[in-house]
Amino acid sequence: MSRQKICAGNWKMYKTPDEAREYFHVLPTVLKPGTCRIVIFPPAYNLLVLKESATALSRAGIVLEYGPQNIHFQKEGAFTGEISAHAVKTLGCELALIGHSERRTLFNETDDVIAKKVKTAVDEELQPMLCVGETLAERDAGRTNEVVKKQLQVGLSLIDVAHDEYVIAYEPVWAIGTGRTATPAQAEETHAFVRQVLTEIAGAKKAQTVSVLYGGSVKPDNAAGLSAQPNIDGFLIGGASLKPADFAAIALAL
Ligand code: PGA
Repeated sequence: MSRQKICAGNWKMYKTPDEAREYFHVLPTVLKPGTCRIVIFPPAYNLLVLKESATALSRAGIVLEYGPQNIHFQKEGAFTGEISAHAVKTLGCELALIGHSERRTLFNETDDVIAKKVKTAVDEELQPMLCVGETLAERDAGRTNEVVKKQLQVGLSLIDVAHDEYVIAYEPVWAIGTGRTATPAQAEETHAFVRQVLTEIAGAKKAQTVSVLYGGSVKPDNAAGLSAQPNIDGFLIGGASLKPADFAAIALAL
């Protein structure tokens, strides 16, 4: 069964609104429409720019989807500095990035909190993109599968895994922002394992339809080797997504 290919950019805390606008002026000059789903997770203060840019890009035949890099699990309330899934949905967001390793390590997000955020995203009709991945110490200790399995089991525990819509991004923490990518064989091994866990918890039919993206130092020159792997359905890209030409080159490799 065919799965959707997704090329997603995680801009982290980069780009002012003006820089974001400029990016989307350049993108249609380098990106061929219709190659795969194109998704950008900008900083939340740029979501309105993405909404405007998506309208402009649609005239060039490019469907741009976007969403926040994090949400709170409550709809609204006294949560200073947090991002409401309900509110960003009104800005046309289609997805929400949840459980990125920087959220887990720098902002102490636990699997239990991540599970609540995944549920809130689904309730607000935002497709959660749940990030999972092991640290270098966990890999060296031979614990990759155990860690990834727990992140999937708990992270998806509050939704209807067999029917709700969600995307998984496997990002080995040791490959994020380090320039050290997993080899295609290393990535495929864990992606196949992710698919196996999804089969266990959501059933074989559903597991075959969930897109599982790879992230961690994806660049134009390593994208083709990774995308040739049967269980890699796309990419979540940090650094290389900041340049339209690099992002477009990676999308073309899918
Ligand atoms: P990177 O980041 O591509 O810069 O390694 C990936 C990510 O953090 O999603």
